[in-house]
Amino acid sequence: MSQITGIRACVFDAYGTIFDFASAAARCAEIPEDRRAALTNLWRDKQLQYTWLRSLQDRYADFWQVTGEALDFTLDSLGIATQALRDRLMDLYLTLSAFPEVPATLRQLRAAGFATAILSNGSPAMLQAAVRGAGLDGLLDAVLSADAVRVFKTHPRVYEYGLQQLGVRAEQVSFQSSNAWDAFAASAFGMRVVWCNRYGQRRERLPGAPDHEVRSLAELPALLAPPA
Ligand code: LAC
Repeated sequence: MSQITGIRACVFDAYGTIFDFASAAARCAEIPEDRRAALTNLWRDKQLQYTWLRSLQDRYADFWQVTGEALDFTLDSLGIATQALRDRLMDLYLTLSAFPEVPATLRQLRAAGFATAILSNGSPAMLQAAVRGAGLDGLLDAVLSADAVRVFKTHPRVYEYGLQQLGVRAEQVSFQSSNAWDAFAASAFGMRVVWCNRYGQRRERLPGAPDHEVRSLAELPALLAPPA
């Protein structure tokens, strides 16, 4: 398989790619085990829908507020809404587990000479808590939040912000996301893209196309020619 050349920075989506958003409900004993998947899936779907709808309406609110409002919808839908459960789940969302291969992959990429960064809808405070909570703070050259441009992905302003902050061109970035819609959008924007398809999603019928599809970020370093 031919390697992607000319890459200077490896940029990662956060939730679902670096951090396991299912780990919030998984660590919440108050939720019956047989309801955790339904809660996680509806919470995630609603969180994303609200980012897209708020961006379309030009009514930005940060990802912490959107995540809380998506959780309110979810707990209401499941008939288990209490303030205590909401507070517990939001607290757990601040310290989600990192997927097991993430620390070693980031170390390997940095040792090879790549810059590493997160580019996420997450608010600065959310991302700082998640990075510190997962012990990743020494492994990332930048942690970039869409909050700086007050619109959510897939708006091009978010990807453009990443390029500006890292001082690179789109074709010098390998962007990784587990979210197909995000991977396709970053490709349409002009970045090289390795789609980490953790969830077995189908290909989107949208502009753009990932350069590679993997099931774990551990496969990423072998796909990239070391920086010149
Ligand atoms: C993020 C969400 C979309 O980290 O996964 O931006």
